[in-house]
Amino acid sequence: MIDSSEQSKPELETLIRDQIRTQGGISFRQFMAQCLYHPQYGYYTGERCRIGKGGDFFTSSSVHALFGALIARQLVQMCELLGDVPFIVAEQGGGEGHLALDILDALRRDFPAFYERIEYRMVEISPDNRRRQSETLGSHGDRVRWCAFEDLAGMVGCFLSNELLDAMPVHQVEKQQGELREVFVTEGPEGLAEELRRPSTHVIFEHFNWLGLSPLEGNRAEVNLDAVRWMRDVAGVLARGFVLTIDYGYPAAELYAPFRRGGTLMCYHRHSSSDNPYERLGSQDITAHVDFTALQKAGEEEGLVSLYFAEQYRFLMGLGFVEELMRLQALETDPQKAQALRLTLKNLILPEGGMGETFKVLVQGKAVGTPTLACSRTLDEISRMSTFR
Ligand SMILES: C[S@@+](CC[C@H](N)C(=O)[O-])C[C@H]1O[C@@H](n2cnc3c(N)ncnc32)[C@H](O)[C@@H]1O
Repeated sequence: MIDSSEQSKPELETLIRDQIRTQGGISFRQFMAQCLYHPQYGYYTGERCRIGKGGDFFTSSSVHALFGALIARQLVQMCELLGDVPFIVAEQGGGEGHLALDILDALRRDFPAFYERIEYRMVEISPDNRRRQSETLGSHGDRVRWCAFEDLAGMVGCFLSNELLDAMPVHQVEKQQGELREVFVTEGPEGLAEELRRPSTHVIFEHFNWLGLSPLEGNRAEVNLDAVRWMRDVAGVLARGFVLTIDYGYPAAELYAPFRRGGTLMCYHRHSSSDNPYERLGSQDITAHVDFTALQKAGEEEGLVSLYFAEQYRFLMGLGFVEELMRLQALETDPQKAQALRLTLKNLILPEGGMGETFKVLVQGKAVGTPTLACSRTLDEISRMSTFR
């Protein structure tokens, strides 16, 4: 029997083909938005296990609870910096709720007074993920609420996201004979096809002017205008506090570097990756790397100060990754389990094949001055501390 999750959802394919016929082709962004977020047939809409071993991809929070426990430490310091005010943690795009669970478990266990003070708000577009989140977070019922983005207006606290922005639909562009062209999806003799056309919106030209760079001749690249808008909106709803954004990506100069000839678009299905978004419509994830320069620049224009930007391994080590790894290993009496634990945790910090280096962490602040954050403890300080122990 053919597994239907291996195939395109037929209703989605028909709908996309209809749009292509009536509009004479659709932008890649429009295509990707339908594949991921169509209200009935999108990849994130339907009932499906997407994250973790039984899903399509791993996220750091699905690797080990230590990821969330270390973020919890950073949230506690942020809360102390803001003083005696109600502290909201707003998480957007929380997947199946594991990051929220690990943060809340760690707070209840290690920082009970802070746990009693905070309110955890989830903003989630996918009805299926909202349901999964409420199941995962059942034991923290009185601390968690779901809300619309707009309901966060005036919030004081920390706006948190992990792998939200890479899941936003992107425009794809190519520079051909000195002209910026956009990828449109059309119908060809053998299925969906691509055509390069004049960009669907002048905002794409403006975006590259604003960034002060442009893709190299012949190179393909993604433009995530939604992420830039999102950053401005987040700055708008935050009255005072921090924005903590974790995702895979690069500063613009590296994202649009000459050697990155085909861009960064990737698809994930049952832990296999491919660069073909035109198969398994609605049944595979489609992602692109995030431009952290655009995020910082947009944030600064809206009153956010960039306080910290580094690879995920530095962030986690600053918050005590090494010490926690040693503590957890010491608790494990079975040497095989201790070894397995070490290998699992290494995924969070390893540069090659792990999540340590391509994943970046950006912390911005609004009306908080320029505090030294706990995560910014340097590798030098960590090694000095372990020598003295
Ligand atoms: C790759 S998953 C994130 C995984 C999760 N943060 C974790 O740590 O496992 C992307 C999540 O973002 C959600 N999402 C995408 N666009 C969104 C939006 N505009 N508002 C709220 N949630 C969104 C998706 O439904 C999904 O839950």
